[in-house]
Amino acid sequence: MSREIKSVAVLGGGTMGTGIAGACANDGVRVLLLDVTRQAAEAARERIVAGRPPALDDPAKIELVSTGSFDTDLDQIGDYDWICEAIVEDLATKRQLFARLEPLRRDGSVVSTNTSGIPLRDVVAGMPERLGRDIAVTHFFNPVKVMRLMELIPGEETTADVIDAFAAFCGGRLAKGVVYAKDTVNFIGNRIGCFWMLSGLHKAKAALDAGLDMETIDLLMSQPVGLPPTGLYGLIDLIGLDVMDLVAKNLEINLPADDAGRAFTRFPEAEARMLARGQLGRKTGGGFYRVTKQDDGSRLREVFDLTAEDWRDVRAPADAGHADATALLFADDAAGGFAWELMGGALLYAAGLVPEISDDIVNIDRAMRWGFAWRQGPFEMLDALGPDRVIDRLKSEGTALPAMLQVLSVAGAASFYRADGTEFLGRDGAFAAVPPE
Ligand code: NAI
Repeated sequence: MSREIKSVAVLGGGTMGTGIAGACANDGVRVLLLDVTRQAAEAARERIVAGRPPALDDPAKIELVSTGSFDTDLDQIGDYDWICEAIVEDLATKRQLFARLEPLRRDGSVVSTNTSGIPLRDVVAGMPERLGRDIAVTHFFNPVKVMRLMELIPGEETTADVIDAFAAFCGGRLAKGVVYAKDTVNFIGNRIGCFWMLSGLHKAKAALDAGLDMETIDLLMSQPVGLPPTGLYGLIDLIGLDVMDLVAKNLEINLPADDAGRAFTRFPEAEARMLARGQLGRKTGGGFYRVTKQDDGSRLREVFDLTAEDWRDVRAPADAGHADATALLFADDAAGGFAWELMGGALLYAAGLVPEISDDIVNIDRAMRWGFAWRQGPFEMLDALGPDRVIDRLKSEGTALPAMLQVLSVAGAASFYRADGTEFLGRDGAFAAVPPE
């Protein structure tokens, strides 16, 4: 059966539901937006028009969005092709809603959950077989209008036509970058991105102890390695230490027993104290950085010095003078040692996650570029560093090669991509054509 999505029922009008509903309406798609109360759904509809950035290029398209409540209007989902659940991240609550909606949707409709961390197998366990065949995770990123990445994850029973329907609609009409992931904790982007952030707090602590300051750490972890200007601490300020803590707790439960990320699921002590006193990031007026308005109207930018555990003025970072990632990661100084530990460590972590989180390197590279704004994905970065050079270093350190570096080494390949990036190295050691984006 081939299926086509032409209308969408979004369940939950929070941050993500509003974003998804707005993206669909902006594309001329008929949307039903339901929430716990009609008022909540109405407020979400308002935010589609008035949000920043506004979801709709033409405000008149809001007419495509009708609203209602779960209690009085759930049966209307029978008129929609895609039932998109985006309610709170709570397994029992999601399962209750799926149990209620399953008898009300029509045959041929497809269903998704926008969970960021709950395994799909837990969502569908014991549910009717039809739901198991028709459901996938559609993991959008916030803000939906801006972020290109959408991770698509089938369950064990999900049929191919369902995945094709989501890929065609989200990749085609919504113009998202669809990445194929697996039902593993945090999928691809957040698995690697959160490893980078959580291991980063620990590796940065060692660097602070070795004399680097926080401004320099953030500088090193931005432009020189092709990451956004927020660096490490700036990015966590944006996300919030409380959110990072929830992510870490979920990782602690769901990471495989031998996963390298297990060493970093608890914050270093200074960050744990920040969390405990509610110093969470931008949303609480300060985390690692804060900006305060002075009496004379000027703005004072301060950093929370983790060593002194006190605020001080932000100072210009020490210019490490490393031209690019290769120069930095192989530099024989404190900056180089830190960058190798953190950035190099994240690349090696990614290289060990095929096939656990993805069948190929292409989906991993795309997830990091589209979801975390890395200029290059991990395997593209390894190519830039020179895989042979990385392998030599690991061997000299007595470190085992992660899976994909082992594949490259055995295959005698010089890089993960070749032919101007049109071919990639597969798990079998053979090169194959990179699929279109
Ligand atoms: P939110 O807190 O903004 O919205 C939650 C929605 O759930 C609201 O519409 C609320 O009325 C509804 N809700 C609350 N209690 C409920 C209940 N007992 N029964 C039914 N509905 C209830 O949350 P957000 O951020 O939109 O997250 C929604 C889902 O998307 C979660 O599973 C989250 O993990 C996931 N997600 C969030 C991202 C983000 O950056 N915020 C990114 C990707 C996924």
